[in-house]
Amino acid sequence: MAGIKRHEALQELSRHHHHALVVAMNLKRGKNEDMDRLRQEVIEFWGQGGNEHFREEEDVLLPTYAMFKDLTTDENVIRMLLQHVQIRMLVQTIRNGKSTAVGNGDVGETEAKSSGASEATYDVEREAGSKVGNAGAKGEILNLDVFHELGSLLKEHVQLEEQIVFKEIQETVPEPDLFAIQHFFHEM
Ligand SMILES: [Fe+2]
Ligand SMILES: [Fe+2]
Repeated sequence: MAGIKRHEALQELSRHHHHALVVAMNLKRGKNEDMDRLRQEVIEFWGQGGNEHFREEEDVLLPTYAMFKDLTTDENVIRMLLQHVQIRMLVQTIRNGKSTAVGNGDVGETEAKSSGASEATYDVEREAGSKVGNAGAKGEILNLDVFHELGSLLKEHVQLEEQIVFKEIQETVPEPDLFAIQHFFHEM
């Protein structure tokens, strides 16, 4: 990310990106014995700002960008949004799965253990060719590949946004319009 000066209005999002890169690196380096810890790290990352960050980009940043540029054929934005879907799927897979066969204690995460009626579960149909395979069904033991895949994708995603999409946004959206949306982006 060196060499690109981030516009002041987007700096909060960029700070999140730095944090996401740290998480991504931990995930990419993860070993089998780390899965419990990594699962908690993913749950906390997502619950403590990750989900909000994605929504701020989808709900505020990109609609503002779309006022000044036709995004329907913008391959970088299309790729960015597809990565959002894929990352959400992997986070959901990790949340739903178990990192170990025993002692799957969750911190700060409510899982409906008894009724099953109150909690929406998102059973995601995995692509046939996905490395994730069949992991991710509710309560299923997770494969380390899921964590590695999320780490790689998260890193790739941050690089796409920082090096291309955000750069183009700040060159395209007039400064008053950037400042007008700044307050939507939460602080870490
Ligand atoms: Fe982002
Ligand atoms: Fe994003």
